[in-house]
Amino acid sequence: MGEQVRRAVYPGSFDPPTMGHLDIIQRAARLFDELIVAVAVNSQKQSLFSLDERVQMLRECCGHLPNVRIASLEGLLARFAQQVGACAIVRGLRAVSDFEYEFQMATMNRQLAPEIDTCFLMTHQQYAFLSSSIVKEVARLGGAIETLVPPNVAHKLRERFAPQTAGTPHPSGEST
Ligand code: COA
Repeated sequence: MGEQVRRAVYPGSFDPPTMGHLDIIQRAARLFDELIVAVAVNSQKQSLFSLDERVQMLRECCGHLPNVRIASLEGLLARFAQQVGACAIVRGLRAVSDFEYEFQMATMNRQLAPEIDTCFLMTHQQYAFLSSSIVKEVARLGGAIETLVPPNVAHKLRERFAPQTAGTPHPSGEST
């Protein structure tokens, strides 16, 4: 009898991916035979990077992990996880404040796909304060982001915010 592949899905919006995400990816990749990082379109959030850009950034920073693949996620996560034959959904928990939202999602996903469990990994202490929004804010204002995101992501962020940080200041002081 062949061994069953233990496959997990790690979903998120990854706008952009941070060192905190990479930490979870590396650790989950050690726990499962295969990890699919699923880049979602979050209708509640306006993204800085397109879905394709986010997928590309993740492919670049996960290239050294042979059992990790990156996919885009449209539609329901629970259905996607079933379609790819996953036994688990992986999520990172940074602080108590994450719990309520995560609990709600895990409960809903369990209703939709009872055979798939959500596994929570504690985010490394070093990255507990990180979020994609905070990284974008620091980058937009020209702060150092090299320790917060992988080098390819730092490059992309600098490129994206270059007109605001290197150019002449906008008369209204506004930036997007
Ligand atoms: N280190 C650092 N930051 C982390 C982190 C970690 N380990 N884990 C999460 N974060 C941050 C993210 O950067 C993000 O920051 P932001 O809010 O500033 O952008 C925040 O925590 C949460 O983001 P993320 O983990 O990407 O989750 P999300 O809330 O953007 O996405 C989905 C949630 C995609 C999983 C959810 O919307 C989903 O499943 N969508 C598919 C549709 C569906 O099935 N909906 C029903 C769900 S029950």
